[in-house]
Amino acid sequence: MCGIIGYVGKSSAAPILVDGLRRLEYRGYDSSGLAVMNGSSSLATRKKSGRLVNLKTLLTESPVAGNCGISHTRWATHGEPSDANAHPHLDQSAKLALVHNGVIENYQTLKNLLEKEGHEFVSQTDSEVLAHLIGRAYDNSEGTDLKMRLVSAVRDALKQVSGTYGIAVMHADVPGFIVGARLGSPLVVGLGKGENFLASDVSAIVSHTTNAIYLQDRDLVYLTADEFTVENVDGAESAYEVSQVDFTPEQAEKGKYPHFMLKEIFEQPTSIQNAFRGRLVDDQASALLGGLGLTPRQLRDVERIVLCGCGTASHAAMVGEYMIEHLARIPTEVEIASEFRYRNSPLDKNTLVFVISQSGETIDTLAAMREGQRKGHRVLGIVNSVGSTIARESDGGSYLHSGPEIGVAATKSFTSQVTVLALLALLLGRMRHLSVDYGQRLLREIRELPAKVEKILEQTDAIREIALKYIDAPGMLFLGRQFNYPTALEGALKMKEISYIFASGHAAAELKHGVIALVSPEVPSVFIMPRDSVYEKNVSTLEEVKARKGPVIAITTEGNTDLERIADDVIYIPEVTECLNPILSVIPLQLLSYHFSVARGCDVDKPRNLAKSVTVE
Ligand code: F6R
Repeated sequence: MCGIIGYVGKSSAAPILVDGLRRLEYRGYDSSGLAVMNGSSSLATRKKSGRLVNLKTLLTESPVAGNCGISHTRWATHGEPSDANAHPHLDQSAKLALVHNGVIENYQTLKNLLEKEGHEFVSQTDSEVLAHLIGRAYDNSEGTDLKMRLVSAVRDALKQVSGTYGIAVMHADVPGFIVGARLGSPLVVGLGKGENFLASDVSAIVSHTTNAIYLQDRDLVYLTADEFTVENVDGAESAYEVSQVDFTPEQAEKGKYPHFMLKEIFEQPTSIQNAFRGRLVDDQASALLGGLGLTPRQLRDVERIVLCGCGTASHAAMVGEYMIEHLARIPTEVEIASEFRYRNSPLDKNTLVFVISQSGETIDTLAAMREGQRKGHRVLGIVNSVGSTIARESDGGSYLHSGPEIGVAATKSFTSQVTVLALLALLLGRMRHLSVDYGQRLLREIRELPAKVEKILEQTDAIREIALKYIDAPGMLFLGRQFNYPTALEGALKMKEISYIFASGHAAAELKHGVIALVSPEVPSVFIMPRDSVYEKNVSTLEEVKARKGPVIAITTEGNTDLERIADDVIYIPEVTECLNPILSVIPLQLLSYHFSVARGCDVDKPRNLAKSVTVE
């Protein structure tokens, strides 16, 4: 949540910062702003509430010049979205500018203290307090090395705060110099030729450089155009690695698609293939997940599995639970990460914990991972973002290799997470009782998934027509059983987050236990009911909805035309073995919510109140 980009070099900073903010806007879009220094001890700040376009207009009316600057796109935590609350924030002297991601938990105490000393605040943010704190430490320090005075001031202030931060700081006394630090909020250094960058996310800098240093918690960095130093916030040495960014700038652009969400839905044949590429082992009828770092014996000894994640990742985890229990017969539980971290869940020594996260930065998932590790468990990650905190701190795991997911609504990450979990279930199953025949069949079916997804995507126009029919619906129900119960939850989440209508997902048979009260001619029910072992049961539930005049959209297996008699609309998906079905059945749900949202005039890629990657509690 929130995005930061800083630049120091020889080019004009403002266009680079604005382009970086454009790429980061999915991290928050309540306001944006920048501060630029022109090399002659003056600092120009421009900021505006609302979308980035407002800042761009302001910069056209009132341009800024200089080759060093910091900027920010905000997802509001403390203080409403307004010009005053937009970052950067200045200190009391108005010579120091700061952008901040995270939350300063003791900001009120610090603010009271600073106010007693005569500091005046112009915003309601916690971040402005940190700017004043650093400015005060700088003003109270002595010495001729102004760069090191600024570095020490940052260190000094950070010692006084509790909470989380990813910051970039500049001071008018020290042109061409940026200081950054992180704790709990991601920060990356981009290394260029005669220019350097600081960003919360590599997508902001990938068009300039692919050499990146992913800072660790408690790292502090200072940059000029030609040099950089990485240390610990306490001044001790900190080891770092220069990594290569693993995606191209084009991958982080919409290309021919009107929205990132649609682009990412259509990328799924490729992203699913990337999730299983090189991981199918034909001669063993099994899967290879080398990154887990577990010996066959260790895998054999696993007695229980806990899968942890938030939102869409937790729905993928639920599919994983069904798959692992079905294929490997290992008791598996899904824990919502935010609950797991505070709950004293009894875990015995042969429990294997997985944390599942697209971004690898979700604060609750990160905290759940650390809690699991603190209890002495091996915690493995199923993560998309290379170099993310979970990827680095977990005890092993598997990457999704989906490429950047920019649309706020998760789509391709879900199908990739389920694909990797299917490989895990197959691997664990084959170490136990799963037959060679069954293993081979699964490998065949996994390989066929991309082509089957293509076939569903071809129906996008027909799904759009269905969405248009229900455009005035005040709410929607999503119903599925067994492997498709989590799919129903995911379909409902997609619908509500981008269309702002009430939508709820349920295990279909739960309908009669209360939910049926919501059925009416205005409220469509989406049934996910492939021809599987619970198909007939689903038909009975569907009939109950129809008997109460509820419109029904049914998603079922190709060739099963029976439902055309009873459902109002039918969407067909290719046949696939039961446990892999969610990878196909979720695609029409993604398309349905996408077209529904577009038709209702909602901002699909930037739904209200949301932002990609939840890095604050
Ligand atoms: C829903 C959505 C969120 C995320 C959740 C976890 O479309 O995007 O529910 O799935 O915030 O995010 P990651 O996977 O980055 O940990």
